[in-house]
Amino acid sequence: MYRYIKVPAAKRWPGFFFLSFPFILFMQIDIDINNNSLKMIINKPTILHLSFFISLSFFLLLTQIKNLKVMIKEKMLNALNEQINAEQYSSLLYLSMSAWFSNHGLPGFANWMYIQFQEEMTHANKFFNYVNERGGKVQLKAIAQMPTDFDGVIDIFEKTQVHEQLVTSLINKLVDIAIEERDHAAQSFLKWFVDEQVEEEANVQEILDTLKLINGQGNGIFMLDREMRQRVFVDSTQAAE
Ligand code: FEO
Repeated sequence: MYRYIKVPAAKRWPGFFFLSFPFILFMQIDIDINNNSLKMIINKPTILHLSFFISLSFFLLLTQIKNLKVMIKEKMLNALNEQINAEQYSSLLYLSMSAWFSNHGLPGFANWMYIQFQEEMTHANKFFNYVNERGGKVQLKAIAQMPTDFDGVIDIFEKTQVHEQLVTSLINKLVDIAIEERDHAAQSFLKWFVDEQVEEEANVQEILDTLKLINGQGNGIFMLDREMRQRVFVDSTQAAE
């Protein structure tokens, strides 16, 4: 597997060396004013000089070609790093919601949200590992403050739905960039997330519909809380590999 080899200012140097050839050749021209003639002196130092520059230029060009094979383009890399941050934010948002449920006597909902927190961490890790595998540089960023107070069970699931719709739009933007940059590997990688978002949104919609039917209270909420307690964590990112 190719790895990105960092060569400082590699993009500028080959051009500089090629442009320096005419100058080096010009330095070897001997102007004989009396005979009104030009003579080119190709001596040993000249040949050594040219050989050195030609070899160095080819080395740098080859290094760049090798880099092009593996590097994620800058726009794609930046977007992937942003997505790592978005997934990490998602995980902490759901952990915060889990804490709220624990404090409001709903351990089943707290469990459901805790598993959601774990799932989002696996999503962030999947992006993290992908960037590393492609030889890109992961840049972790500060995670924004997530809300800690909510207006009830329905409010939490409405916020979850809005958040998942936002994540879906971010994934779609990543796919757009991958298409624009002709990054076929990224397109293939992102397909898993496109499918995952369909499932995530459907799950939240189903819970929200049930919550609205029972008006988010009464016996119904306790029955639903029991059901939510059954959820167990499965690392679907591993199952897919
Ligand atoms: Fe990783 Fe729920 O989006």
